Amino acid sequence: TSNQMWGGRFAAGPDAIMEAINASIDFDKRLAAQDIAGSRAHAAMLAATGIVEASDAEAMREGLLTVLSEIEGGSFEFSAALEDIHMNVEARLKEIVGPAAGRLHTARSRNDQVATDFKLWVRDQLDAADQGLTALIAALLDQAEAGADWVMPGFTHLQTAQPVTWGHHMMAYVEMFGRDLSRVRDARKRMNECPLGSAALAGTGFPIDRDMTAAALGFDRPTANSLDAVSDRDFALEFLSVASISAMHLSRFAEELVIWSSAQFRFVALSDRFSTGSSIMPQKKNPDAAELIRAKIGRIFGAQVALMTVMKGLPLAYSKDMQEDKEQVFDAADNWLLALAAMTGMVGDMTANRDALEGAAGHGFSTATDLADWLVRERNLPFREAHHVTGSLVAKAEARGCDLPDLTLEDMKEVHEGIDTSVFDVLGVHNSVASRTSYGGTAPVRVREQVARWKEVLG
Ligand code: ARG
Repeated sequence: TSNQMWGGRFAAGPDAIMEAINASIDFDKRLAAQDIAGSRAHAAMLAATGIVEASDAEAMREGLLTVLSEIEGGSFEFSAALEDIHMNVEARLKEIVGPAAGRLHTARSRNDQVATDFKLWVRDQLDAADQGLTALIAALLDQAEAGADWVMPGFTHLQTAQPVTWGHHMMAYVEMFGRDLSRVRDARKRMNECPLGSAALAGTGFPIDRDMTAAALGFDRPTANSLDAVSDRDFALEFLSVASISAMHLSRFAEELVIWSSAQFRFVALSDRFSTGSSIMPQKKNPDAAELIRAKIGRIFGAQVALMTVMKGLPLAYSKDMQEDKEQVFDAADNWLLALAAMTGMVGDMTANRDALEGAAGHGFSTATDLADWLVRERNLPFREAHHVTGSLVAKAEARGCDLPDLTLEDMKEVHEGIDTSVFDVLGVHNSVASRTSYGGTAPVRVREQVARWKEVLG
């Protein structure tokens, strides 16, 4: 039998393989709530503009609510023959309200319908990501506040560089996730224009009110070009870009947690709630959540590349290729939001090992720069010369198998006779971090200021 939506010019129905490649209902059923919200707004507008009878519109709007409750209640029977969520909903609506349902698709196409539905869905995900990022930042602020003056090694090349504070390290991630949050908000603003009423590609001759549907669906305004509106998937791509950058941040942090929770570092202990054991090695407590967060970026990056590739050669306006936009975005959104929640849980639960952090902070000649700075400040050496003198002292300590503060004053004087006992003050890790008071520096006073600023930003 031919299709009930467009059977007019068809004598035969589709081959089973045609149906298999064409149907999207298995995944686009996730757009049901958005589709019904869009249709309800459209029906109300059709009545307000006199395009359909008010009683028909009211029947459709009521019927759509019934369809929604059937879908939400799990009793709705999805049909692949009806291809996608839009036609599944409309067909069921017809069963419920009768021929009046046939008026719903006046001045509308599935092209503007799907663009609207998908935008609404992506917008919801941005709102969820906004909340997820905010919760993660709050958890990081708690960690930063508790350990604003705990000292730990700062690394470059994963080699000990200079002491930093735990709070400063946590706040570095607050900045990253804070930028992610502002990207989420930017993207939401940019995408918040309503495609509905663009119809198939050219607009419509019916006297529709696009401002009305846009407002009803929470959009700032209708889109200004109908060809663009049905062809545009920038909003999904921008979502994936924002998600990719954020997932990259999550992955870097996850990598640090994997390293830090190892027996070799012992910088943090993850909670039982966010660790797993081994089926053979009884001693194991594995950071699986961190590892999975680290790995999930693969699918999020992959989604972005996949959708870019789908879109890159498409002539205007709609092509069926665009049906391939959804699964990638669904998967990326699910995994990004899950990774954010898992990271928030881990950060909230984890315990920093203050002793291990401070112990490690003093190793690896981490205050060598402080010593060089001291020679510049107190003995007026040019920095290059101070660097050289300090390098010789490091070599001496290394040969002796000790750290810089373990050298005697005599050892030091042998290398540079201007050195006196006051130098030992700057070799301590606490003095080192306390001295770094430049704006944005690691000194506890600066860290506390940033914590306070962020708490105000988050409200
Ligand atoms: N299922 C389709 C999609 O996801 C809906 C739009 C179909 N439009 C069309 N002209 N075939 O893109």
